[in-house]
Amino acid sequence: MNTKKIVIDPITRIEGHLRAEVEVDENGVVQEAFVSGQLFRGIEIILKNRDPRDAGLMAGRICGVCTNSHFRGAITCVEDAYSLEIPKNAEIIRDLIAMALFIQDHVVHFYHLHSLDFVDVTSALLADAKLTSKEAHKYHKNPYRNSHSHYEAVLEKVGNFVKAGKLGPFSNGYWGHSDYKLTPEQNLILISHYLEALKFQTNISKAVAIFGAKTPHPQTLVVGGVTSVADMLNPQRLNDYLFIIKEAKVFIDRAYLPDAKLLALAYRDEIKAGVGRANGNFLSVGGYEFEGEQRLFCNGVIYGHDFVHVEEFDESKVTEEIDRAWFSGDAKENEVCYTDLNDDGSLKTAKNDDKYSWIKAPRYDGKTMETGPLARVLVSYSKDNKLIKSFVDEFLHDTDLELIDLSTTVGRNGARAIESGYICEYIFKLVSRLIQNIKYYDTDTWVKYDFEKLQKDAKGRAFLEVPRGVLSHFVNIKDAKIDNYSVIAPTTWNATPKNFDGLRGAYEEALVGIKIQDTSKPLEVLKVLHSFDPCLACAVHVIDAEGKELSRYKIKTL
Ligand code: NI
Repeated sequence: MNTKKIVIDPITRIEGHLRAEVEVDENGVVQEAFVSGQLFRGIEIILKNRDPRDAGLMAGRICGVCTNSHFRGAITCVEDAYSLEIPKNAEIIRDLIAMALFIQDHVVHFYHLHSLDFVDVTSALLADAKLTSKEAHKYHKNPYRNSHSHYEAVLEKVGNFVKAGKLGPFSNGYWGHSDYKLTPEQNLILISHYLEALKFQTNISKAVAIFGAKTPHPQTLVVGGVTSVADMLNPQRLNDYLFIIKEAKVFIDRAYLPDAKLLALAYRDEIKAGVGRANGNFLSVGGYEFEGEQRLFCNGVIYGHDFVHVEEFDESKVTEEIDRAWFSGDAKENEVCYTDLNDDGSLKTAKNDDKYSWIKAPRYDGKTMETGPLARVLVSYSKDNKLIKSFVDEFLHDTDLELIDLSTTVGRNGARAIESGYICEYIFKLVSRLIQNIKYYDTDTWVKYDFEKLQKDAKGRAFLEVPRGVLSHFVNIKDAKIDNYSVIAPTTWNATPKNFDGLRGAYEEALVGIKIQDTSKPLEVLKVLHSFDPCLACAVHVIDAEGKELSRYKIKTL
């Protein structure tokens, strides 16, 4: 069989540096895929010998997007090491910052990073404003900014971009590609919301900054609690936060969710064909207290799309290997070992032990897993989480889809939109719980401790759900200093390289079997990868939780 290799490097509209190589047969069907994290970083090394109380501020710098997730991950694992219980208010404030970031990430991802894989900007210019307004009513009874004049203004704005020859964010698209399926009117709806989402992004950042002091890189989390006491006790600040979330909810309900439904209906054939489906293994560690025992997200493990037998998450089953990542040694003790590319510039992938990525290979019970909004939605729904059920049922009803259909490229966007709507409801409950506490004079936001009297040697870990999936931080403290630090980020799970086990990770598995219509314009590959919301800055890390030899760290080329 004649195969042809397609290389995309870098994949754009993501965070960090990702390369994809796919082998297609004569019909353009992908037979094998290799994805490679092309970025090396060493925040874990910088953390060595630091005061554990400083880990949060530094770990936050792992990524410019997921700043708060790593900040919180580090603070939480240090608290775990010292067995510190933080006040309820501190937990709520941390959740309020995190939840605002969830919806910020999801909206930015859908419109600004991913939508142009579905939306043909040049086609939108052919739309009729009146028909567009009518079309939007198919997906919501009261669509967001749906007047004729608004659509005419959008047409003029985008038209002026094109006339001036400055497409800005819309340049270098595969416009006119046969994989684009939306009508001009549907394209115009999405473009209108693309522009509105820019304002959304600004406003929701203010919500994060109300309790986080700034964003990116919020400042207010400390080991033992939060420092946002004055913000919590200021009714104006709480009102400002709530107002922004209410506005955000309007956009999510009347633009984002309807747009996800529009895509699901327009790409129905693709969904039903299972395009972009990985191996059906899903991992969620759950979390975020709702009421009593109820959690916003359930923890659980699904194998092979078996939604009936969902296992409990067991952290002892998490392992990480380095066989095909650019490291030498073993999983417990390793150093960087970059083996470069082939002479023709392609990844070295021919042999079973060829190394081709900076990303290590996490496994759960020896298997590759998908993590992220889709995993959370499937696990929570399958475990009968009553809070999310109505959101999922409504989406499936309106799009005439089944649960398994969400496990596709387009379905991942549906899951993300469902989760955003669901999170808005949760935020209102969180705020009212906070107000309730304050009313009853519970204003603690920090637990007092004497650092000098804490254990000198301790180990801690944190497993958190963050926008892109499961995040774990591990710390090993010796003589009151960080001896070793390790992170497994959501993208590390999804973008894992093959190991000696030969198992494909979620990215690679989702790519195999897709058909590429025009190998010079591999839009289909971008679409699959974007649907996972890759964050490569997060994914690449260097030290295992048990590793020791940080001082011997060096790069060598074989
Ligand atoms: Ni990130």
